[in-house]
Order: sequence, then structure tokens, then C-alpha cells
Amino acid sequence: MQEQLSALTAKAQTEFASLKTRPEFEAAKARYVGPNGELTALMKQMGSLPKEQKPVVGKLINEAKTQIAALLEAALRTIESTELQAQLGPAIDPTLPSPDFGPGTSHPLTLVREEMCRILRKVGFTVADGPEVETEYYCFDALNTPADHPARDAQDTFYLPTSARFGNVSKKNPDEKYLLRTHTSSVQIRTMLKGEPPIRIVSPGRVYRRDTTDATHSANFHQLECLYVDKNVTVRDLKALLDYIFASLLGKETKTRFRPHYFGYTEPSFEVDLSAKHLPKVRKEWIEIGGCGMVDPTVFEAVGYDPEVWSGYAFGMGLERLAMLLYGIDDIRYFYQNDLRFLKQFA
Ligand code: DAH
Repeated sequence: MQEQLSALTAKAQTEFASLKTRPEFEAAKARYVGPNGELTALMKQMGSLPKEQKPVVGKLINEAKTQIAALLEAALRTIESTELQAQLGPAIDPTLPSPDFGPGTSHPLTLVREEMCRILRKVGFTVADGPEVETEYYCFDALNTPADHPARDAQDTFYLPTSARFGNVSKKNPDEKYLLRTHTSSVQIRTMLKGEPPIRIVSPGRVYRRDTTDATHSANFHQLECLYVDKNVTVRDLKALLDYIFASLLGKETKTRFRPHYFGYTEPSFEVDLSAKHLPKVRKEWIEIGGCGMVDPTVFEAVGYDPEVWSGYAFGMGLERLAMLLYGIDDIRYFYQNDLRFLKQFA
């Protein structure tokens, strides 16, 4: 038995050293320690040995078992490192100069964002910022969004676990949940709570929704929010501003239209459509671009502004949608793939 065992471990040693792939490894493992393996067969013989030999042979078998297990482990490590090496490709020399990709260019979303901010700064808006991790209060409650509104559903919104802590994101109520903001409208609330009217802000930024990615949807996209609060603000001011910004960005031929809609935070509320047939790849007459309306008195009350004194308008729109219109891009996924062949077209 002792000879058989040492012959077996010696054979294992040479065999395992030549294993190259995982299937080979699995087959070799089965040949030794599988149900019909050679070592397993020797172990089975234990039963028929005389009683006094059992402890000695048992010890020898255990030693062989440990040795074979160690050999298998080593063979697997070698296979794994070969696999990793294959993934990494040939060794590189990090001291060599990098290939010349030419000067960097701005991402199309950056271009549109900056152009919109420039257009809005010209008429008195300043850029405001808000956190991407938000709380239910700023994203929903203060915006007059009822507790049973579908947008608040965990199917549509990414909530963070209750154990998550963000020292830089203030909560209104201690037991409210953190979430990834579903729109930039939360910045309206943060801005109004910080100061007194008049207010004129534009806030571009990243937003998150539980959407399945396709040509027009992404779980992570960008919006641009505007809020204007002053005395005697009317829908005419809102329409005039939207006409101005779209004509500036997309050309004078661009037309806008309002369709009645419902948002909890504006009354009346509208969806905004654009007509821009002069742009490349635009086939439809009207394209929905965002939502807007006159700030609802409930929102003013939530932030401590007197709705009898103050009035205002707000709107929000998708930046990707705007960039797609402007540049004739027909798939939202191009924005996020970092393909230089795409990105270099916007130099
Ligand atoms: N928050 C809305 C959305 O995500 C867009 C929106 C609608 C923003 C109306 C506004 C507004 O400021 O007044 O679809």
C-alpha cells in the first residue's frame, strides 16, 4: 500500500505539472480524487485491511491526500496566472511615451451643458449645484409629490440602504431615506431654502432612474433645471425664455409649443415640444424636450416664501435629448462608451 501511495503521488506530481487549462485540471482532479479516482480506490481498500494495519495505512493515505490536494492547488494557481497573463497581453514598458491621440476634446454633453449655461448667464441666471445623492424630502416631499406617487416607487428610483451615511448631504427628517436623485428639481428646493428671492438659477447635472438601457434610455443621464422666482412672473416670461434659449442653441428657425400636463410642483404645468426640422436627422415635427410650469404655491410654502408675494417659473429638460437633436445622434449609448471615433467628431 505504501508503495502504491508513493507511486501515485509521484505520478500526480509529473502529471499536474503539465496541466494547461481548466478542463484538463478538472479531468486530472477526477482521475485522482473523484468518485472513481485512483486515490479514492486505494482509500476504499482500507475497509478490507486487518484491524492492526488500519491506523498506519490510514495515516499514509491521509498524507497522500494532503499532498495531492496541495499539488492540485498549485496546478490551479499556475493555470490562473497563465489565464491572467493572457488577459493582460504582452508586457508593456510604462516609460515609453503614450501613443499620440492629439489634444483632448470636450464631450458633446459638456459642450451642450456649457453652451446652455452661457445662454442663460446672458439673461441673468447663475449656476447652482446640488448633490446627486439626495433625500426623499428634497427630491419628492418639498416638491409636493405625494407618498404614493409612482416616481417614488423602488421600481423607478434607486434608494440607498438605511445604513448609508453621507455627512455632506443634509437630511430634513432623521428617518428619511437617501436616494439617487431622479431629477434636478431637488436643486430648486436646496436653493430656495438657502436664500431669499429674487432667484434665477440654472442647474445642470446627473440624474438616475431605474431604466433599462436602450437607444433612448439610460439609468443615468443628465438634466438641466431652471428656476426663476420674483414678483409678477407670468407664463409669458416662461415661454419667452424657452423661445430664447432654444433659438440660441438650435437656431432661429426653432419653434416651441406647450402642452398641458401635470407636475406636483408647478401649476399650471406643461410639457415642452420643439420643432426643429432644419436639424440633421430630425424627421418628426414636434419633439418632447422637457417639463415646465409656474411654481406651485405649496412649494413656496414648503421653503417659507409667501406665495401671495412671490411667483415664479421652473423647467427641466434632458441634456442628452438636446445634444442628440443638435448633433443628429440617434443612440444615447454613444455618449457613455468613450469611443474616440465618436468623441473626436465634436472637436
Ligand atoms: N422634473 C421633471 C422631470 O424629471 C421635469 C420638470 C417638470 C422640471 C416641470 C420642472 C418643472 O422644473 O417645472 O421630468
